[in-house]
Amino acid sequence: MSEGVPVALVVGGSGDIGLAIASRLGRLGYQLVITGRTSERLDRAVNRLREQGAQVRGVPLDLRDEGEIERLFTGLQVPPLDVTVNAAGIAEAKSILRATAAHYQETLAVNLIGAALVARESLKVMRKAGKGTIINVASTGGREGQKGFAAYCASKAGLSVLSDSLREEAARYGIRVATISPDKVDTRMHGEDPARARMVPPDDVAEAVTFLLRLSPLAVVREIRLDQQGPRDAST
Ligand SMILES: NC(=O)c1ccc[n+]([C@@H]2O[C@H](COP(=O)([O-])OP(=O)(O)OC[C@H]3O[C@@H](n4cnc5c(N)ncnc54)[C@H](OP(=O)(O)O)[C@@H]3O)[C@@H](O)[C@H]2O)c1
Repeated sequence: MSEGVPVALVVGGSGDIGLAIASRLGRLGYQLVITGRTSERLDRAVNRLREQGAQVRGVPLDLRDEGEIERLFTGLQVPPLDVTVNAAGIAEAKSILRATAAHYQETLAVNLIGAALVARESLKVMRKAGKGTIINVASTGGREGQKGFAAYCASKAGLSVLSDSLREEAARYGIRVATISPDKVDTRMHGEDPARARMVPPDDVAEAVTFLLRLSPLAVVREIRLDQQGPRDAST
C-alpha cells in the first residue's frame, strides 16, 4: 500500500454490487482491498479492477470465520483505513415452514455477524486515525420483510439496527457510519429472473457510496434507500 493514498476495503468486492463499488472507488483514486469467498471470482474481480488502472489487492475471506476476519485486518498493514464497505451477503429463498436452525444460522453468520465483526475491526483501525467511514449494505427487505426470505430479511433488519448502534459508538472517534438499503438490484442473486432488466443497476449503489464519501466529515446521511422506479408489484 502506498503512503498518503486513501485506502478502501470492500468486503464482498468480488460480488456484483461490491465490484461496482470497488470500480468507482478505484476511479476516485482509492487503493483497494477487496474480499470474496471463492478465489476464482475474486481473481476475476481483481483482474477487472487492474485493467481499469486500480491498485488492488484481493484477499479470500469467509465471513463465518472470526479468525479469518481478524487476520484480514492484521494483514492489511494500514492504518489509515479510510473506508470500509460491507457488501457481502447471501440470500437463500426458504419459506418459514421449511426454514431450519441451520438456515437461520448460516444467513445470520454471513449477513449480520460477519458484517458486525468487520465493522468492529474497522473501528479499531480507524479510531487510531480519528477518521473513517463505514458503509453497510442492508436491504429494503430488512425494513419491510419479503415472502420466502424471512432469514435474509431478519439478517438485514439486524444489520440496519446494528449500523445505527455503531454510528452512535463510532461518532466519538470521528468515524461516520451509513447504511445503504437497496430494493432489488440487477445481480446474479436474481439468477435468470426476467425482471432483472427493471431492477436497480449495481452502479447506482456505487453512486450512493460515492455520494456519502463526498460529504464533508461534519455530515452523515444515516441511510440511503434505493427503491426501484415504478409500482412495486410490477417487478415481483
Ligand atoms: N441483489 C439485490 O437485489 C440486493 C438488494 C439489496 C441488498 N443486497 C445486498 O448487497 C450485497 C451484495 O449482493 P450482490 O447482489 O452483489 O450479490 P453477489 O453478486 O452474490 O455478491 C455477494 C458477495 O458476498 C460474498 N460472500 C458470500 N458468502 C460469503 C461468505 N460466507 N464469506 C465471505 N463472503 C461471502 C460473495 O463471494 P463469492 O462470490 O466468492 O461467493 C460475493 O463477493 C449483499 O449483502 C446483498 O444482501 C442485494
